[in-house]
Amino acid sequence: MTARLHLVDQRTEAMPVILEVSALSKRFSTNGIAPVGVLQDICFSVRRGEMICFLGRSGCGKSTLLKILAGFIRSSSGAVQLNGRPVGRPGPDRCVVFQEDALFPWLTVKENIAFGLKGRKLSRRVRDREVDRFIGLVGLDGFADYLPQAISGGMKQRVSLARVLILQPEVLLMDEPFAALDAQTREEMQNLLLDLWKKFSYTVLFVTHDVNEAVLLADRIILMDKNPGRIREDISIDLPRPRHKGSERYFERCRAMMTKVNQV
Ligand SMILES: Nc1ncnc2c1ncn2[C@@H]1O[C@H](COP(=O)(O)OP(=O)(O)OP(=O)(O)O)[C@@H](O)[C@H]1O
Ligand SMILES: [Mg+2]
Repeated sequence: MTARLHLVDQRTEAMPVILEVSALSKRFSTNGIAPVGVLQDICFSVRRGEMICFLGRSGCGKSTLLKILAGFIRSSSGAVQLNGRPVGRPGPDRCVVFQEDALFPWLTVKENIAFGLKGRKLSRRVRDREVDRFIGLVGLDGFADYLPQAISGGMKQRVSLARVLILQPEVLLMDEPFAALDAQTREEMQNLLLDLWKKFSYTVLFVTHDVNEAVLLADRIILMDKNPGRIREDISIDLPRPRHKGSERYFERCRAMMTKVNQV
């Protein structure tokens, strides 16, 4: 094990567990039809600052799991605890970024980013300073007064990211946030996410279909089975950071992961 790799392991192993999911199941009943089990016996824990990616076939329940963690829907059984407390309703400690941007079309970039701060007792000066800081952090200097319709898809996702990061959530939940972007923009967004993650040590749960993306980002990849959605394997990605897409080791990890994904 290289010194660098050792450091990477220590970074998360020294951190406390903040999110604990135990024996979580979800069944959906629609129109009197017998309930369908979507998630079954999901168990995992996440340490503060970890980046976890979820991979699995379409319909295996990845979005459902994220919605339960966000508090948008309830599980049928099992428990989710954040910092030792049960997760119920949505809260500012868990923020979600979706594939499609969820910006308010009538608000400017600056107003969209400031929106979540409304309930907080901040002076206008402090709020404006924070908004400017996050506009800069996501690389949108000069676009503060643009409406969403006047910026590109990649820029909208930058706004989506700034809008949740400014709330300083404990856990960032991301559901295929870069899936609709072209390859180059996607890579820029991956690098931006990694830069911000390094700077602020967020805990990130990231759903993707892209094996290369998962290997680039993740400390751990949770591979899911379908019908019902279950955890098939929880795999540590012990590649040193920063990771280089051109490197032999990265390529090898992607190939090995692709083999596992194809067996699901
Ligand atoms: N509100 C709902 N009512 C009934 N069934 C639902 C509901 N939401 C999701 N499902 C079902 O749960 C299963 C899992 O859906 P989910 O969207 O979580 O999958 P996913 O892994 O995110 O898929 P994808 O990769 O395509 O986004 C699907 O069969 C879906 O039809
Ligand atoms: Mg989904």
